Amino acid sequence: MRTITSARDLDPASGGKRAVVMTMGALHDGHLALVRHARAIADEVLVTVFVNPLQFDDPADLERYPRTLAADAALLAAEGVDVLYAPSQEDVYPGGEPIVTVCAGAINDVFEGASRPGHFDGVLTVVLKLINLTQPDVAVFGAKDAQQVIAVRAMVRDLNVPVEIAVAPTVRDPDGLARSSRNVFLSPNERAHALVLSRALRAADARAGQGAGVTEVLRAGGDVLVSVPAARVEYLAALDPVSAQPVPDDYRGEVMIAVAARVGNTRLIDNVSTHIGLANN
Ligand code: PAJ
Repeated sequence: MRTITSARDLDPASGGKRAVVMTMGALHDGHLALVRHARAIADEVLVTVFVNPLQFDDPADLERYPRTLAADAALLAAEGVDVLYAPSQEDVYPGGEPIVTVCAGAINDVFEGASRPGHFDGVLTVVLKLINLTQPDVAVFGAKDAQQVIAVRAMVRDLNVPVEIAVAPTVRDPDGLARSSRNVFLSPNERAHALVLSRALRAADARAGQGAGVTEVLRAGGDVLVSVPAARVEYLAALDPVSAQPVPDDYRGEVMIAVAARVGNTRLIDNVSTHIGLANN
């Protein structure tokens, strides 16, 4: 594996298919699943590690975000990654904060967007920049960040960005907790409380599988969430998978059930994709 810190050191496309996996580092099995997905669909795999200040609305959150580049590089080398691109702030934002940025539009008004002002504009701006810097054929994202996938797909569609978007499923610990770089902040007690997110989603998904409507599906998830008051819920909602807007009560079709909660000082998100108003079998 070659490690580069400037996009100037990237080789031009070799003619084979180039996949990029963008990350903020502190890599875990969730990220590595994206790398394996990329490996399976492309000839060349490039991973970016860059903690993007533009997408953090809370400076304390940016400050304490885990940074483990040496360990990340070892994991990526073992996965057979071709290039690790770990740029400096200066390489990505040479003039400091950019004048022109990407706007996520109405996606900013709901759920993660509403909870974290400016977050999706920051994500889309860096994703577009990293696409332009690395020139991939395909960019691989994790289903773990449902609204991020929706926002990236919307940008690619609405701005005609010439890249294919691939999505890999959420990787979980055996007990259901979605893998996240933030899980290291959970005490053993908090980690036990955090399991309520995935339990709630499973309950909602099961209710959807029985043919229940939006209200009942969300109630099934909500009933599980209230059983663990230590998890301070920000939202549990059914999102339209294209617009990220909440679906109406009489909606039928594919939805993402998404949840966000704080456990201690750690903010966690999770989601499941399901069908509402259709029996699954
Ligand atoms: P980061 O949180 O490091 O995540 C990088 C990628 O890994 C994202 O596509 C995310 O959805 C995926 N991922 C994280 N945990 C996962 C899990 N448990 N299962 C499957 N995929 C998982 O998301 C970002 O960084 C940033 O916003 C970024 C896109 C890099 C832009 O800065």
